[in-house]
Amino acid sequence: MATTSPSSQNAGRRVRHEHRNIRAALRAIEALLDRPGGAGHDAEFIGQALEHLEGLARDLAEHFAREEAPEGIFAKALAEAPRLERRVLAVREQHGPLGTELEQMIADMGHTGLAPDAWRKVAERFRSFAETLRSHERAEGRILTAAYLDDLGSGD
Ligand SMILES: [Fe+2]
Ligand SMILES: [Fe+2]
Repeated sequence: MATTSPSSQNAGRRVRHEHRNIRAALRAIEALLDRPGGAGHDAEFIGQALEHLEGLARDLAEHFAREEAPEGIFAKALAEAPRLERRVLAVREQHGPLGTELEQMIADMGHTGLAPDAWRKVAERFRSFAETLRSHERAEGRILTAAYLDDLGSGD
């Protein structure tokens, strides 16, 4: 097997690093939204939740743009392993809907109010979004491994 170029390996390492940060952000938001309802759901809580989600939306938009850039991992993976085209196109197509769902969640949160039931629904909706995003990042991780854009055995 031909060795992967250092710039491709760097792109792969950077994406792995960003994926770890995204997973940490998802865990933090899930923990925040899972707080027992009632007293915890005041204006400060809503402000905090919105701030976290807006931060995630910004990080995610930058992350997606870096992956899609001409020097990003999608282009590198295709250059190293053209056979991966279908898998690369499939994950790239998920970026739009993932970004839209997060923006929609942020917009809807503006009129959620303080009722604990409403926040339980927000928590459920976020958990489902987080699961889809984790599965998206895992699929990319497998593409990196298949294209040898990562250090072999890095395992995530
Ligand atoms: Fe992605
Ligand atoms: Fe990613």
